[in-house]
Amino acid sequence: MTDHILVERSESAPHIQIIRFNRPDKKNAITRAMYRSMTDALKDADDTPDIRVNVFLGTEGCFSAGNDLADFLALSRSGGMGREIVDFLVALASARKPVVSGVDGLAIGIGTTLHLHCDLTVASDRSLFKTPFVDLALVPEAGSSLLAPRVMGHQRAFALLALGEGFSAAQAREAGLVWKVTAPDAVEAETLSLAAKLAAKPPEALAIARNLMRGAPDAVLSRIKEEAEQFAARLQSAEARAAFEAFLKR
Ligand code: COA
Repeated sequence: MTDHILVERSESAPHIQIIRFNRPDKKNAITRAMYRSMTDALKDADDTPDIRVNVFLGTEGCFSAGNDLADFLALSRSGGMGREIVDFLVALASARKPVVSGVDGLAIGIGTTLHLHCDLTVASDRSLFKTPFVDLALVPEAGSSLLAPRVMGHQRAFALLALGEGFSAAQAREAGLVWKVTAPDAVEAETLSLAAKLAAKPPEALAIARNLMRGAPDAVLSRIKEEAEQFAARLQSAEARAAFEAFLKR
């Protein structure tokens, strides 16, 4: 467990597990250790009947700036996409409890694609969703090449994932990535209130309803693996390495 991911259970909402990005000095950029903590938390929720809902939150003004680019540079030298990243994506795509997220501010890369796996997302009106994968000489991940066109149609998904266009909270809501837009200071309360409503439902009926709506995760899991192979190859490319170095040398 790292302090950069806080896993919280509040006394007022005992059935809710909060997984919070807590690395604000680095805009909550996600390291391999942070992925490991999040995977453990999701697996723990699956195995703990008392936990009924998972909630992802960030810090004030920032959900996450995506994968840590220093880690990507290290991976581009050592090879692979990073076992911890793939393990997290698999755990997220196959999580058996509902997942709710609350975004205030920046949501970049996996900070955006994570919500494609969520059942409900709340965003503040100052949020920005952006996936500069192709600009970094990478490809979409987290099953987003399958899920985003499904959720928002090909052209909007292409604008998000290939063009690297930033989506405002309103655009993300219109695209179906976000359920509700609120003021920044209302994001957490609204997110936790939705999670509490879900946690109060009969858990078995909720699980069945959710499974019926989501279907088997097989296609998403196989796309995550397919993307990971391409992603790992792209990480080794000279153009990706140059993009990471350019960011880190700014
Ligand atoms: N990986 C590693 N460090 C990151 C990071 C990332 N993805 N995003 C931000 N940081 C670090 C910065 O290096 C900086 O560290 P420093 O203070 O030690 O120099 C700190 O977080 C603050 O970031 P900064 O760029 O100064 O903040 P900003 O408000 O001007 O810009 C962003 C915020 C998110 C727009 C900008 O940091 C950015 O573009 N980050 C990269 C996003 C990205 O490409 N993610 C990967 C997607 S696949």
